Amino acid sequence: MRFDSYGDIDVLNVVEVERPVPGPGEALIAVKAAGINPGEASIRNGLMHERWPATFPSGEGSDLAGVVESVGPGVDAFSAGDEVIGWTDQRASHAELVLVPVEHLTGKPAGVSWEAAGALFVAGTTAYAAVRAVGVSAGDTVVVSGAAGGVGSLVVQLARRAGAAVIGLAGETNHQWLLEHGAIPVAYGDGVADRIREVTDGHVDAFIDTFGGGYVDLAVGLGVAVDRINTIADFAAVERLGVQAQGTATAASADVVREIADLAAEGSLEIPIARTYPLAEVREAYRELAQRKTRGKIVLLP
Ligand SMILES: NC(=O)c1ccc[n+]([C@@H]2O[C@H](COP(=O)([O-])OP(=O)(O)OC[C@H]3O[C@@H](n4cnc5c(N)ncnc54)[C@H](OP(=O)(O)O)[C@@H]3O)[C@@H](O)[C@H]2O)c1
Repeated sequence: MRFDSYGDIDVLNVVEVERPVPGPGEALIAVKAAGINPGEASIRNGLMHERWPATFPSGEGSDLAGVVESVGPGVDAFSAGDEVIGWTDQRASHAELVLVPVEHLTGKPAGVSWEAAGALFVAGTTAYAAVRAVGVSAGDTVVVSGAAGGVGSLVVQLARRAGAAVIGLAGETNHQWLLEHGAIPVAYGDGVADRIREVTDGHVDAFIDTFGGGYVDLAVGLGVAVDRINTIADFAAVERLGVQAQGTATAASADVVREIADLAAEGSLEIPIARTYPLAEVREAYRELAQRKTRGKIVLLP
């Protein structure tokens, strides 16, 4: 998948490129599944140019799961045929073949589907970082915005595993899912602060914002200490209020990916898959993502 200039989804094209050859320390992966993420859409349409500029032609995608095709010189941790989960920092996973440094790979547990495996790097490490950042522990009451989204659905489950009571802000269609995962669903929109106070008796220990658009201010208004507020979407609020902004970058390691994958394999963590698309329908996949209405992840199947 390539794009040659910033723009809307119509700049995305599936093209034939040369077969990559693994160099020292690299593996060539035949991608079985690769998640898509809102940040990729922001990079593609140029909104992140100051922070993370693109160079053209650009590929896209970090998340991946697949089968090792071949390895480069000096690689003995993996060999052809191994099933792996990992990531690339080269915006390259939305492809049939991708080169990956082997330290970005871990074995795929047999009990994890390809879709879930290919979707868990960005969302999983981000959720892991956010829960760790606010120090969620047993007895805490934690509010999560975007509680059914790709990241939020994992934050909710990880915070529950840490023993917290979790209030999940979500649309009505996701309330049953939140209940089934041990969270208390609360509708967002007008009156949300009062609804949160009602179900928490006015006491909230931590707030994890995965949506932006004012939830950090809401958290401060609820009396949550700034060091127990983490946002992955509202960087202006981070500057203004000094809340935390821990995301993928602070938890990106093969060990964390493996930990999340193991939880999924043992059935302790659901990686909800909203929908899968063939690579050829990459534009449709990002069109759906832009609606911001998915529960869990949208995944490309090259
Ligand atoms: N900093 C980092 O490391 C990092 C990493 C990953 C993602 N991010 C950012 O984090 C954000 C979330 O990513 P994601 O992949 O989880 O997105 P996503 O899956 O597209 O999120 C979709 C969710 O947003 C919810 N939503 C829509 N309108 C809402 C509102 N007004 N209030 C609360 N929730 C609302 C929807 O809930 P309902 O369907 O229930 O309405 C839906 O479940 C994005 O901005 C992304 O760029 C940052």
